[in-house]
Amino acid sequence: MQAVALFPEGPDLRVIEKERPEPADGEVLIRTLSVGIDGSDRRIVDGEIGGDVPDGEDHLVVGHEAVGIVEDANGTELTEGTVVTPLVRRPTDAGSHAAQNGELDMAPAGAFHECGIFGAHGYMAEYVTCEPAYLVTVPASHAEYGFFVEPASILEKSLEQAFAARSGFNWRPESAFVLGNGNLGLLGLARLATGEEFERTYCLGRRDRPDPTIDFIERVGGTYVDSRETPLRQVPAAYEPVDYVFETTGYPKHSVGAARALGPNGVATLQGIPGEATFEFEGGAFHSDLVVNNKALLGVVNSRKTHFEAAVDWLSDVSSGLLDDLVTGRYSVDEIDRALDDSPETLKTVICFE
Ligand SMILES: NC(=O)c1ccc[n+]([C@@H]2O[C@H](COP(=O)([O-])OP(=O)(O)OC[C@H]3O[C@@H](n4cnc5c(N)ncnc54)[C@H](OP(=O)(O)O)[C@@H]3O)[C@@H](O)[C@H]2O)c1
Repeated sequence: MQAVALFPEGPDLRVIEKERPEPADGEVLIRTLSVGIDGSDRRIVDGEIGGDVPDGEDHLVVGHEAVGIVEDANGTELTEGTVVTPLVRRPTDAGSHAAQNGELDMAPAGAFHECGIFGAHGYMAEYVTCEPAYLVTVPASHAEYGFFVEPASILEKSLEQAFAARSGFNWRPESAFVLGNGNLGLLGLARLATGEEFERTYCLGRRDRPDPTIDFIERVGGTYVDSRETPLRQVPAAYEPVDYVFETTGYPKHSVGAARALGPNGVATLQGIPGEATFEFEGGAFHSDLVVNNKALLGVVNSRKTHFEAAVDWLSDVSSGLLDDLVTGRYSVDEIDRALDDSPETLKTVICFE
C-alpha cells in the first residue's frame, strides 16, 4: 500500500510502499478515505516540530486528521462499513491514570505519543489499524468531511475549558475573537459563528484584500481585524472588549495580546505552539489587568473522545457549502507536494485515497 512518510534525515518526505498492516487482537483494520493537512503538518515536514520516528523504525508516517471506513472489524464491537475518525494520542503506558480515564489530552509529556506527529505512525496511508477505544464514529453522510473532526475537536475542548473557567459566576458572553486566519483559525471561526454561544465574531489576520480568508471570515458573518492596523491592545477601543479569545497564530506576543483584547471577566485560550522567542512586555500592567478584571488565560492542547463527538455533532449540523468553502484542494497521494504548498490561496488541503 502507499503511505506518505517522513525520513528525519534531511528531513525528507516520500511516498513509499509499505506492507498493509494486520490488525492485532482488539484492533480493527481501517481503509483510509482522506487525511487533512494543517500548519502543524507543514512544520513537521519542515523539521520544526515533532517528526520523531517510532522505536526501531527509520520513518514516520505523517497525517493526524483522518477519516476512514472499518474494513475488518476483527471481532471487536465495531461493524464493517462504519465510518470512523481516530484520536491522535496513544499512551506510552496503557495502565497510566490518563490512559485508563481516556484523558490523554491532559497527560504530561512522556505519557503519550501523537500519531503522525511524534513517536507513532499517523494516518496518511491506504490502511491503518486502531483499537476501537481510539475511534469515533462519523455519520456516513459526512464521510467526505470527516477529516475536519480532529481540528474541530480542538475548538470544542477550548470552549469547554473556557466555559469551565467561567463557571463560578453567571457568565454571559456575547463576542468571540479568533486570532489567526489559518487552518485552525478559520475552522474555529466557522464553529463560533454558527454556534449559539456568541452573537458577534471577529478574526485577526495580516492579509490585504482581496484574500480568500477575508472572504470566508465575512461569509460567516465575522469582522476581519488586520493586526498590522489594529494591535490587540487597541481592539477594545477600535471594536469592543471581547469576551472570548481563541488564539491560533502561534505568534508569541499574542499570549499577552490576547489578554489585552479581553473585556472584564473574559477568557482566552491559547492553542498556537511557537518556537523559542524572547520579547519584552509591561509585566506589571499585564498582571494587574488579569487580576482587577478577573481575566483568565488558558493553554489548550489536543482533545479527547468527548470533544471529537461534539465536533461530529457540529459537522453534522453545519451546511456542507460552508465546509466546501474551506477546502481549496483535494489531492491524490502522489500530489503530496502540491497539497503541502501553503500559498495565500490555500485554505484547507486534503489527501484523498479514493
Ligand atoms: N493546541 C493544539 O492542540 C493545536 C492543534 C493544532 C494546531 N496547533 C497550533 O496552532 C497554530 C495554528 O495552526 P494552523 O494549522 O492554523 O496554522 P496555520 O495554518 O499556519 O495558521 C496560522 C495563521 O496565523 C496567522 N498569523 C501568524 N502571525 C500573525 C500575526 N502576527 N497577525 C495576524 N495573523 C497572524 C498566519 O497568517 P498568514 O497566513 O497570513 O501568514 C496564519 O494564517 C500552530 O502554532 C499549530 O502548531 C495547536
